[in-house]
Amino acid sequence: MPENIAPGGTGSTSAPHIEFRDVVKSFGDNTVLKNLNFTVGHGERVTLIGPSGSGKTTILRLVMTLEELTGGYIHVAGQPLQYEEKGGRRQRVPDKQRRRTTTQIGMVFQHFNLFPNMTVLENIIEAPST
Ligand SMILES: Nc1ncnc2c1ncn2[C@@H]1O[C@H](COP(=O)(O)OP(=O)(O)OP(=O)(O)O)[C@@H](O)[C@H]1O
Ligand SMILES: [Mg+2]
Repeated sequence: MPENIAPGGTGSTSAPHIEFRDVVKSFGDNTVLKNLNFTVGHGERVTLIGPSGSGKTTILRLVMTLEELTGGYIHVAGQPLQYEEKGGRRQRVPDKQRRRTTTQIGMVFQHFNLFPNMTVLENIIEAPST
């Protein structure tokens, strides 16, 4: 996953490329991630291993901003993804800034799910052209 995240932003090369700080993610009463802290360096490859339901996919979905963060902070390339600490308070990142950061993040699906009756080009343009 980390190799799909393009370098960018203003973070220095020695700063962590991905940083989870005190991350909390709950679905209703079910708190899946409880104050999760970890960093991934630039160019570092990381594998998430854990039992089913331990939160691996949730971590990836948070990096893709497909899930709303319940607590804490996630930074990619030095940029806050959903929330930032400003004046000692946890504040939502403005949508424009958020979009700028997320355009630099990509993911590759585990299952390719291509239409076998279409060419590569037809598969690629299917969604944007319909
Ligand atoms: N959209 C959702 N709504 C409610 N609960 C969810 C949602 N997504 C995930 N969960 C719950 O969060 C927990 C973590 O799920 P997650 O899919 O991240 O686990 P996982 O480690 O990827 O599991 P697996 O190895 O089976 O893929 C599970 O208890 C799951 O039921
Ligand atoms: Mg999973």
